[in-house]
Amino acid sequence: MGFRKRGLILAAIIGLTGCIDHDSRPLTVAQKNFISERIKPFSVVNVTGQGILQVAMAEELPGQAKYAGCTACHGAQGQGGLGPALVGKSHEYLMGRLKAYKAGETVGAQSSMMWTQASMLSDKDIHEIVVYIETL
Ligand code: HEC
Repeated sequence: MGFRKRGLILAAIIGLTGCIDHDSRPLTVAQKNFISERIKPFSVVNVTGQGILQVAMAEELPGQAKYAGCTACHGAQGQGGLGPALVGKSHEYLMGRLKAYKAGETVGAQSSMMWTQASMLSDKDIHEIVVYIETL
């Protein structure tokens, strides 16, 4: 949901700057900064002098970087490995598991592997990671 909405906002901003470019009115520094600030959470962008947006990466959710430490055991696509597959599991399920590990609860025989992992995550981190896993 949030993922698509961000895409729309990004598309809208690109459309907007496209118009500015059409009128051949360069963006002011204030406008460039404003756009950069608004886009920062969504993607890695570079707002150039003529109102052209160079989108280096269309979409990067905050959970993506945080998931990097999980790939060794759960796979880059959440397909599993040393740890179980995460892809295809529900939002509630994943949130529940991570909160249980964070609280030091035993879920399966290898829960101790997850205690340290989850203890390093804030509730916000957990939410962002789960939102990212859902896109895999
Ligand atoms: C050292 C390997 C390792 C790393 C790194 C790791 N995990 Fe795990 N993970 C496991 C193992 C093993 C289990 C199964 C634990 C058990 O028996 O309860 C597990 C279980 C889980 C589960 C529950 C899956 C299920 O089907 O019940 C979730 C969700 C999870 N991990 C998410 C993460 C996230 C998110 C990260 C990164 C922050 C992460 N893991 C990092 C090994 C790892």
